[in-house]
Amino acid sequence: MTILMEKPELVSQSDFQNHADESKELVLDGGFPVPKSLSGEGFLAPEINSFGNSFRDYNAESERQKSVEEFYKQQHVNQTYDFVQKMREEYSKLNRMEMSIWECCELLNEVVDDSDPDLDEPQIQHLLQSAEAVRKDYPNEDWLHLTALIHDLGKVLLLPKFGGLPQWAVVGDTFPLGCAFDEANIHHKYFKENPDYNNPSYNTKNGIYWDGCGLDNVTISWGHDDYMYLVAKENGTTLPSAGLFIIRYHSLYPLHTEEAYMQFLNDEDKENLKWLRIFNKYDLYSKSKVAVDVEKVKPYYLSLIEKYFPAKLKW
Ligand SMILES: [Fe+2]
Ligand SMILES: [Fe+2]
Repeated sequence: MTILMEKPELVSQSDFQNHADESKELVLDGGFPVPKSLSGEGFLAPEINSFGNSFRDYNAESERQKSVEEFYKQQHVNQTYDFVQKMREEYSKLNRMEMSIWECCELLNEVVDDSDPDLDEPQIQHLLQSAEAVRKDYPNEDWLHLTALIHDLGKVLLLPKFGGLPQWAVVGDTFPLGCAFDEANIHHKYFKENPDYNNPSYNTKNGIYWDGCGLDNVTISWGHDDYMYLVAKENGTTLPSAGLFIIRYHSLYPLHTEEAYMQFLNDEDKENLKWLRIFNKYDLYSKSKVAVDVEKVKPYYLSLIEKYFPAKLKW
């Protein structure tokens, strides 16, 4: 799918960083300032998260910081190429439950994400805050509103009826397996204890992949992104390819924010990445204490769910 983008203009990482040095404006995730077109009109980005630190500041001396680092240690040691194959096979069966998208939004309220240094609120508020912020700035892209609403639904994997997976198998930034762990990955040092680290098939730059192979051919660490992608795809969603791409790769920070692993992208991935980068701003900045009135916006989202999904999905 070719996407024509009217706004905002995406600039390279170095452009972002130079700009940040000059203007000292709000810096997010990975040292990126918010482009003016996003931080201005309508969408007011908070400068600090619920814990009083700047967003995704993994080095902040916060209570949360140590547990986040411990989380990444476990994730980096345990997520291996073989582990992901097993999880994909198991969860592709979609034999755990039948429910609607909205029912899953409500179910997600029971979940807290330990890996996230910014968020200590019910998940449904994060879903609605990001969806409503996107809706305000891109009123005609209804698929993007719905994508924002459902992007984190895969976190139900933490609940007992979905296998009660440990946090390291559900949340946190994701990364490719089957090739070398790029240093752009958060807390990279812990990969040294990953069994794949010393596997000669997996520890070269491209590993088992090749330039332009397409992200669809690359195994990414298992978590809520890939699970929700499987659920949406196997239940026959009519969301466009960019929506599925956002759901599947929104935690792939080393790629969409640090520009690592870019050699694997094909032409369709490159188009979809533009939308993912737009979405990411809303995923980060909508994490705030401004609550959305659920009952008020519910009819709108139910109409989108009806447009793009069957009434009941297999999970
Ligand atoms: Fe997520
Ligand atoms: Fe999110």
